[in-house]
Amino acid sequence: MAEPFEDMFKESKVFANREVLSPHYVPHNLIFRDKQIQEIAKYLTPSLRGERGRNVFVYGKTGTGKTSCIKNVIERVKNLPVSKAHISYINCRIYNSRYRVLQKIVSDYLPLYAKRGYGIVDIYERIISWIEEDGKVLVVALDEIDVVKDLDDLIYTLTRANSDIKSGGITILGISNKVSFKEELDPRSLSTLYENEMLFPPYNSNELAQIIKERVEVGFKKGMVDQAAINLSAAIAAKESGDARLALKIISRAGEIVEENGLDIVGPDQVNEAAKYAEEDIAYELINTLPEHQKLIVYAIALLSLQGSRYKRLNEDGEMYLFSGDIYDKYVSVANSLQKEAKSSRWYRKYIADLDMQGIIVSYESGKGIRGHTKLIKLSYQPGKIKDTIERTLNKEA
Ligand SMILES: Nc1ncnc2c1ncn2[C@@H]1O[C@H](COP(=O)(O)OP(=O)(O)O)[C@@H](O)[C@H]1O
Ligand SMILES: [Mg+2]
Repeated sequence: MAEPFEDMFKESKVFANREVLSPHYVPHNLIFRDKQIQEIAKYLTPSLRGERGRNVFVYGKTGTGKTSCIKNVIERVKNLPVSKAHISYINCRIYNSRYRVLQKIVSDYLPLYAKRGYGIVDIYERIISWIEEDGKVLVVALDEIDVVKDLDDLIYTLTRANSDIKSGGITILGISNKVSFKEELDPRSLSTLYENEMLFPPYNSNELAQIIKERVEVGFKKGMVDQAAINLSAAIAAKESGDARLALKIISRAGEIVEENGLDIVGPDQVNEAAKYAEEDIAYELINTLPEHQKLIVYAIALLSLQGSRYKRLNEDGEMYLFSGDIYDKYVSVANSLQKEAKSSRWYRKYIADLDMQGIIVSYESGKGIRGHTKLIKLSYQPGKIKDTIERTLNKEA
């Protein structure tokens, strides 16, 4: 038997620094985003001077550099000689409720009160009196703000705080990947959040090629990556959605393929192969982080897709689709078996539209068929794999 850890300390022939290729790496240098960084800085300037600034809402598709730019600006602020301004970066995928967000603020600045067991009112009052002590301005950067469950309450609380606070204040910096998020908000939250708004446009193919090139220079060994491979990764990601994360994922996957197969250089063939996997990886990540009931719906679709043909219908192109009604029934039974209350069919239709928009499913309205007017739905990815991924996360949460 080969030594299981044999490869662990072997030097890579392909990579010089894997870390800079990881999705968690925040680059210091964000090309093509000077304008956006300047603009965020401009909006934050009043807060840094100790006046409550206007709230800002930053949005744009995934992988357009929003998180990186915000973190970049926060780093710069840390180096400024300002005493009264504080910025809390909050990833709402983790802190996904009003309570958790307030708790995170407390744990950033008042660790003594971060222990469990304090009620929301206590935490709120703590934060207010900490701000009032010397007229601080707190900027709360809420990344992926759209996943906060009780967002209207959170916004209301943070806004109300400003009328309770005698000196100082709170500014909200909301960030979202959901371009259509505006339409979902309560009008009051909307007018609060959108005092200023800023769009991050998708990168085009040339921009992506340069982003990849810079990263390849640090992440790969010299001469390991063909320019044609860089251009192709950029073109694929640009066509997909202008997502820099996808572009970087493709090139690093391609590097792994080269390493695993002992090839000499990363070329277009490896990029093509990697692109197939990279898109799937991202899809699975996306599915794992879906809100609970959407995840259960996707799970129900995966289960039905794997079941016998009773539920499936062939369309004119010979592809298998499911009836929306069958999926809803399955979803209800899945939810019940997990002791969760299923959402109404009205919510269900809204979730289906969301999943469609995110490319996780494909759906279309049937003409007048056997069951009258209905929606036909198909998963965009392999049902078996999706079922496994979701089961893993459901077990973890249970
Ligand atoms: N302008 C840029 N220059 C270099 N790398 C970038 C740039 N924009 C995005 N990236 C890379 O793409 C990845 C995704 O960016 P991110 O800021 O997370 O996007 P978003 O928050 O909009 O989804 C980051 O990890 C970063 O490595
Ligand atoms: Mg982000």
